[in-house]
Amino acid sequence: MSFANPIGVFDSGVGGLSVLQHMRVDLPKENFLYIADSGYIPYGDKSKDFIEQRSIALTRFFLEQGVKAIVVACNTATAAAISTLRSIYSLPIVGMEPAVKPAVDATRSGIIGVLATTGTLESTKFAELLHRSGKGAEVIIQPCPGLVEQVERAELSVKMTRTLVENYVSPLLERGVDTIVLGCTHYAFLTSLIKEVVGLNVSIIDTGPAVSRQLRRRLEKEQLLSVENTPGAEQFWTSGPQREVQRVISRLWNRKVDVLRLPKAFTRSGTISSTPNKPLQRTRRRRAAQT
Ligand code: DGL
Repeated sequence: MSFANPIGVFDSGVGGLSVLQHMRVDLPKENFLYIADSGYIPYGDKSKDFIEQRSIALTRFFLEQGVKAIVVACNTATAAAISTLRSIYSLPIVGMEPAVKPAVDATRSGIIGVLATTGTLESTKFAELLHRSGKGAEVIIQPCPGLVEQVERAELSVKMTRTLVENYVSPLLERGVDTIVLGCTHYAFLTSLIKEVVGLNVSIIDTGPAVSRQLRRRLEKEQLLSVENTPGAEQFWTSGPQREVQRVISRLWNRKVDVLRLPKAFTRSGTISSTPNKPLQRTRRRRAAQT
């Protein structure tokens, strides 16, 4: 199988597969390299610096593999790192942000909810987005700690996931929200569950389809669309526990896939010496100083 000129797609874990599903359909001839940076999940509670360094490390890997474009299939990484990536690298880099504008256009009650990670909701980029696009409605934000971890285990409909979803959406429903934006790619895998909990009168908006269309437009504009006559393929990589990630990706991708281990040089983060799954640099330094 030839694997020429792929498009690199990354997320902190398996969430970005929800975007890849749309890109697979919209761009059937393209090859995709997907990285689940699961050794460092969740990004949602990490510092901007940390996420920037991970994003740079993953981009360096993609460039070594000869990618022609990159999709940051993660709202948190887009908020933290896309400006830096674009300032360093000149290839097309498509990112994603919560679909506030479409939700403002769609709401009838004038009240919308945004479910996202703490990192996204506290970012300057999100504040700018609200300033730019949130004016036509009351926007209620809701961080959802724990949901990403449930999706990482492919526990999409167990009781604990349902309880978390109920806890996060109830305050939004009480405030009269009629449109909910899924501001984290992991949550797209919980769409059925969220729909069950919110009922038929609340619309759910996922950014995945729009990102896929944007990638297509960008490739067209740069004349980078594949001209092959054969269907494209996917390759999956991870910085996390390979077997477990392979199990979960196979489940969410609806097909048994092989997941490759990201080479060591790219599992560490450039200038920041990081420890997987530990939140912030500063905390580690302080602890080190005490011992
Ligand atoms: N999937 C990511 C997003 O869209 C974030 C998940 C995480 O916290 O790692 O924001």
